[in-house]
Amino acid sequence: MEKIKNRETFSSGLAVFFATLGSAVGLGNIWKFPYLTGQNGGGAFLLVYFLCILFVGLPIMLSEFYIGRKTRKNAVGALEQLKPKTAWKSIGIMGVAAAYIIMFFYSCVAGWVYYYLFKAVKGDFVGVTMEAAKAQFGAVIMGPVSPIIWQVVVLVVVSTILAMGVKQGIEKITKTLMPLLFVLIIICDIRALTLPGAAEGMNFLFHVDFGQLSATAVLAALGLAFFKLSLGMGTMMTYGSYFTEDNNMFSTAVKVALSDTLVSMLAGIAIFPTVFSFGMEPGAGPGLLFMTIPLVFSQIPFGSVLLVAFFFLTAIAATTAMLSLVEVPVAYLSEERGISRKNATVLSAVLIAIVGVLATLSVDKASLLGHITFFGMGFFDLFDYISSNILLPIGGLLIALMMGYSIKHEEVVAELSNHGKLKMAKLVNVYFILIRYVTPLLLIVVFLNSIGILKF
Ligand code: TRP
Repeated sequence: MEKIKNRETFSSGLAVFFATLGSAVGLGNIWKFPYLTGQNGGGAFLLVYFLCILFVGLPIMLSEFYIGRKTRKNAVGALEQLKPKTAWKSIGIMGVAAAYIIMFFYSCVAGWVYYYLFKAVKGDFVGVTMEAAKAQFGAVIMGPVSPIIWQVVVLVVVSTILAMGVKQGIEKITKTLMPLLFVLIIICDIRALTLPGAAEGMNFLFHVDFGQLSATAVLAALGLAFFKLSLGMGTMMTYGSYFTEDNNMFSTAVKVALSDTLVSMLAGIAIFPTVFSFGMEPGAGPGLLFMTIPLVFSQIPFGSVLLVAFFFLTAIAATTAMLSLVEVPVAYLSEERGISRKNATVLSAVLIAIVGVLATLSVDKASLLGHITFFGMGFFDLFDYISSNILLPIGGLLIALMMGYSIKHEEVVAELSNHGKLKMAKLVNVYFILIRYVTPLLLIVVFLNSIGILKF
C-alpha cells in the first residue's frame, strides 16, 4: 500500500468532475471552437476535431491524470519524481511556458467578455442591429485603453482567487454555475434555431465536405482538441494531483471530454444559424461570438436580462479556465522554487499583464501594434499559434512517448484501477495501444502534413 499523502484533494468524486470540467470549459468552447469551425469550413473540421478528441485527447488526458495523482505534485515535480534526473521534466517546464503564452491572449479575450458583460448591464445592446453589433465589437477591440483596463481587471480577479488557494473556490463555483451556463446556451440554441434561415447554419456545421479541409485545418483541429481539454502542458497533471484516491479516472476523463464537447456543440448551434440568418461571414474570425450573441438576444422577451446572464456565465467559465492555467506556474514556483504562493501569483499576473498588452494591441491589422508581424501573424495570433498548434501538441507527444515507452505497465494498471479496486484490465490495454502507437503516430503525421513533408 502506498503511504497516505497529506496533500489537499478535491472533496468528492463529483467535485473532481466539476473542477476538471471547470478547467476544460471556457473561452475555448464559446469563443474559439465556433470561430475556428467557421474559418475552416464547418462539418469536415468538426469531424476531424472529434477524431482528435477520441484518439489523442482522451488518452493524453488519462495520462496526465495518472502522472498527477500518482505523484501528487505540480507538473515539473511530478515528472521529476516519476523519472528522476531525466529530460522528461522538460515537458513540465515547457508547460509552464505554454501556460503563460496562452494567458497572454486568453486574458485579452476574457477582458472583452468582462467588458461585454458591463456593456450588457448598461443596456448597450438593446435592439442592436447587425451593423451596430459589428461596430461595437470594433470599438471594443480598438480601444486602445479600455481593453487593456479590462484585461488587467481579469488578471486581478484571477490572481486574487489563486492567491487564496484554488480548490474549494473552484469546486463551489463550477458546481453551481456550470449547469446554469448549459441551460442558458440551450436557450440561445432554441432562439437561433427558430430564426429564418437557421437550416443553412446547421448544414454548415454538420455537412461534411472534405474538399474544405486543408492541412492547416487539420492542425488547427488537433490544436483545438488540446486547448479545449486543457492538455499538453500540465494543467490536467496538476488537477490530477488533487484528485481523490478512489476516483475512477477513466470515467472522469470520458465524462469531462463528452460534456466539454457537448458545450462546444451547443455553442456552435447557437452561433451558426444566427450567422447565416443575418447573412454574416462564418469565417469572420475572433469576433464571431461577440458579433452574433447580442443579435441572438436582441428581439426576444427578457433578451437584455438573458444577455447579461450569458456574458456573466461566460466570464465565470473563462475565469475558472484561467485559474487552471495560471495554477500550473504558481504550483511550480511555490512548490519547487521556494517562492510563496502569493508572490508566485503576483509575479505571474504582472508578467502576463505586461506581455499580454502586446496581444491586446495587435488583435486587428489596424490596431496600434497590428503592423508588427511574424510569419504574417501579429502578437495575438502568434501567441495562439505557438501555444495551441506547437507547444501543446509537442507536450502531448512527449507525454504519450513517456507513458507508452518509459513507464512500467503494472504501475499504470495499479494506479488506474485504484490498486485493483476497479476492473480495468481491458480498458487499460486499449489505453496502451492508443498511447504507444495511435496517439503518437497521429500527432507526427499531422505535424509532418502541416509543414508539407507529408502530403495527403
Ligand atoms: N480549456 C480551456 C478553454 O477551452 C482553456 C485552458 C485551461 C487550457 N487550461 C488549459 C488550454 C491548459 C490549454 C492548456 O477555454
